[in-house]
Amino acid sequence: MAPIVAITNLKDHVGEEVTLQGWVYHKTGKGKLVFLQMRDGTGICQAVVFKGNVSEAEFEAATALTQESSLIVTGLVKAEARAPGIPGGYEVDVRTVQVRQIADAYPISPKEHGIEFLMQNRHLWLRSSRQWATMRVRAVIMQAIREWLDGNGFLNVDTPIITPAAAEGTSTLFEIDYHGEPAYLAQTGQLYNEADIFAFGKVYCFGPTFRAEKSKTRRHLQEFWMVEPEIAFCDLEQLMEIEEQFVSHIVQRCLRDCAAELKVLERDLTHLQKVAPPFPRLHYDDAVNMINAAAQKGELVPGYPDPVPPIEWGDDFGSPHETYLAAQFEKPVLVHHYPTQVKAFYMEPEADRPEVCRSVDLLAPEGYGEIIGGSERMSDPEKLIASIQAHQLPQEIYQWYVDLRRYGSVVHSGFGLGLERTVMWVCGLDHVRETIAFPRTLTNMRP
Ligand code: 4AD
Ligand code: MG
Repeated sequence: MAPIVAITNLKDHVGEEVTLQGWVYHKTGKGKLVFLQMRDGTGICQAVVFKGNVSEAEFEAATALTQESSLIVTGLVKAEARAPGIPGGYEVDVRTVQVRQIADAYPISPKEHGIEFLMQNRHLWLRSSRQWATMRVRAVIMQAIREWLDGNGFLNVDTPIITPAAAEGTSTLFEIDYHGEPAYLAQTGQLYNEADIFAFGKVYCFGPTFRAEKSKTRRHLQEFWMVEPEIAFCDLEQLMEIEEQFVSHIVQRCLRDCAAELKVLERDLTHLQKVAPPFPRLHYDDAVNMINAAAQKGELVPGYPDPVPPIEWGDDFGSPHETYLAAQFEKPVLVHHYPTQVKAFYMEPEADRPEVCRSVDLLAPEGYGEIIGGSERMSDPEKLIASIQAHQLPQEIYQWYVDLRRYGSVVHSGFGLGLERTVMWVCGLDHVRETIAFPRTLTNMRP
């Protein structure tokens, strides 16, 4: 039998006979010809079955194929500029057809389906070309993340998922029963990362995190993946430099390796192509002034029906604020020095101005909002104890975390990049639910 070849590699086999294993994406034909759009998980190509080239039984079998039927064909690879497919441009002139299964009437067709129906059929919807492209970009982003961190001296040390306490606020905890003791699914690996840097210098964890978010927005999942680098002897300014290098690497790697996928997604690449260091920096104070000036003029927020809402100094940004701010810049923008009161207990306050903290959020262009949250961490044990108390967190449980400040404390910083939000931005999607194979949203955990 001819060698099994992936559709994505057909370009290397022009003029050769190959075997393709896959499924029928679409079928047309007339008379002596059957045109199959065949997909194999790596791409889609046209396979042409001409009656004169196969046995009578095989031609009949090809004629009877339905959408999503599984099959194995052999055939001759031809370069054909007009041949549709992903990446397209190659066609297989079929010589043998083996049908594995004739699929039942498939519920998903190219016509429009409601989102509820598609989510209920997520196990099938994943086969559709936009979903396929998105998951492939996600995998490349994961590779790019590891590639950059591994290549820049970070050690991957993973952190526990079952934890005894909150790290990012108590309102979004998923509680579980740990043999009679309450425990929680991790909202972040950060606190453990902080222990790890004193052993390894620069570390990262990368895995699923959980937040019982009561908000039903386009950007929130209950279970999402976060990569969290943490760095010893690193202050806020150095952290921002790391973030812009890291994010630029991810985006450039996608542009290099995901051209076919981004084309399927009809992604406008103009903004992505500009993602390179340095990124603009914006102090929270200046951001508030920009927002309020725009609100006074009645400026509209791109993509929103209403003008920019005013903001009071000290409040956190809402989505329209983030969208408005990000729209003022061509590249992602680093917003730093948020009010201490809206941020987590562990962030280092600014020495001569403790009402703001040494935090930074990265906002993506085009309305994709916050991709990264990070900060310099409190490094003084007494200040940290006071903050734990002020936030009414259980002292005993954080004893070990305070310990880190007793044995060789140093300035240190880190951040968390949300994988799904990054995929949403790179792919140009309207909703985060399409960025993970089986999303967990406020209203849905099935299938
Ligand atoms: O800003 P957050 O809450 O930061 C932390 O958890 C820090 N402990 C990270 C650190 O410094 N090590 O979350 C970080 C990022 C957000 O910017 C966002 O991209 C993503 O995680 N994120 C979510 N993504 C999807 N659904 C949710 N519910 C998310 N919550 C946060
Ligand atoms: Mg945040």
